[in-house]
Amino acid sequence: MNQNPQVFQTIFQTIFVLMTTDTTHYWMPFTANRQFKARPRMMKSAAGMYYTTDDDRQILDGTAGLWCVNAGHGHPKIIESVIRQAETMDFAPPFQMGHPAAFDAARSLAEMAPKGLNRIFFCNSGSEAVDTALKMALAYHRMRGDSLRTRLIGRERGYHGVGFGGIAVGGIAGNRKHFGPALPGVDHLRHPLDIPRNAYSRGLPEHGAEIADEFEQRLLALHDPTTVAALIVEPVQGSTGVIVPPKGYLQKLRTICDKYGILLIFDEVITGFGRLGTAFAADYFGVVPDMICCAKGLTNAVVPMGAVIAKQSIHDTFMDAAPENAIEFYHGYTYSGHPLACAASIATLDVYQSEKLFARAALMAPAFEAAAHSLRGLPHVKDVRNLGLVCGIELEPIPGKPTARAYEVFERCFWEENVLIRTTGDIIALSPPLIIDEEQINRLIAAISKVLVSMIK
Ligand SMILES: Cc1ncc(COP(=O)(O)O)c(C=O)c1O
Repeated sequence: MNQNPQVFQTIFQTIFVLMTTDTTHYWMPFTANRQFKARPRMMKSAAGMYYTTDDDRQILDGTAGLWCVNAGHGHPKIIESVIRQAETMDFAPPFQMGHPAAFDAARSLAEMAPKGLNRIFFCNSGSEAVDTALKMALAYHRMRGDSLRTRLIGRERGYHGVGFGGIAVGGIAGNRKHFGPALPGVDHLRHPLDIPRNAYSRGLPEHGAEIADEFEQRLLALHDPTTVAALIVEPVQGSTGVIVPPKGYLQKLRTICDKYGILLIFDEVITGFGRLGTAFAADYFGVVPDMICCAKGLTNAVVPMGAVIAKQSIHDTFMDAAPENAIEFYHGYTYSGHPLACAASIATLDVYQSEKLFARAALMAPAFEAAAHSLRGLPHVKDVRNLGLVCGIELEPIPGKPTARAYEVFERCFWEENVLIRTTGDIIALSPPLIIDEEQINRLIAAISKVLVSMIK
């Protein structure tokens, strides 16, 4: 009989969860359902930097939930604002009706956005923000009388959510291959990850800005620039495993878009709200897109919400072109500008500013970088890359078992080290709440280090 106390603990935890929660009916998203339900990882509460599990362990949150709880869990000002709104008015129809919180939330977001991007279209998620922006881009060109521009360009390994528009411009094979061709007329630019030249880059990699030239030299030459409506990119690719753009790369994309009248959309669902130490990645890079997609940190994840932040000129094109008293943009959701989401967003943006959380992220970034790069040279580590408070740690896969190594690190960090990390493929992605301190950073990295060192194969 196995005498290992860890095995007993595992059996006990599993029985405990199975006795308390019926896991049968919930079909979990982006989850290995059968594997999860065999040994559920359950959170029951959260505060600040920590989750509490159903067996009362405190789990250090190394992922800000899912890249979204930027101000830390359970911030009282945000919770209070949502409760107050729920007590005042639960819902108002967003089509042909309004309520003050929606206009206030839009103003707060416009004030935080890069100059010139000041018209806000609300939705409920990052996926909806992406599909909204793509539709807005297509309709914008039509409104200008340039209806030939119907092509959309994304990037290999890009993640733009799970709507049909998002998976069409996205470039993660697993997210696309089961769902048919999605949208026609879409093409993809090569991603700029180049480990042989840029391994262990601290901040922006030196090599690879020329990959942006392929947009002009290959894709626009192939399709004819006058047919292209928009290019959509994540300024730092997150979900694919943290691909940081090389120096000068995003600036080149902006120049090419300008040259040919193509709209540049930044998908800032992850990079928005302080992840890089600035409000948006657009601020960090000094590159202003025509539209920004955002979600996640917009409400600190307390209530689902997404938004497209558009240049005023794009908005005005719609207003000028549509017949008087006609709806200008045939698009929207029942829950666009939902009162609870607006209340959460107004309070969240206020917390970011009053607690100077973006500056705090910038201040903690060097310690985060140093800690992450201390993993260099440990068994199985192939690359470490970082920017702001996000980093990717790429591992050598176990031969013949892609993803298994990173998944084991994830599980052992959770069960043995009481630390939540996120993995994609064989890459660990860390993106803690912006309130993380140096001791917590060191604990997060020490946990990963301990697990890696103990993995024999
Ligand atoms: C860059 C990017 N775009 C879009 C999305 C989709 O957001 P949601 O899951 O809220 O639909 C994500 C989610 O991680 C993302 O990282």
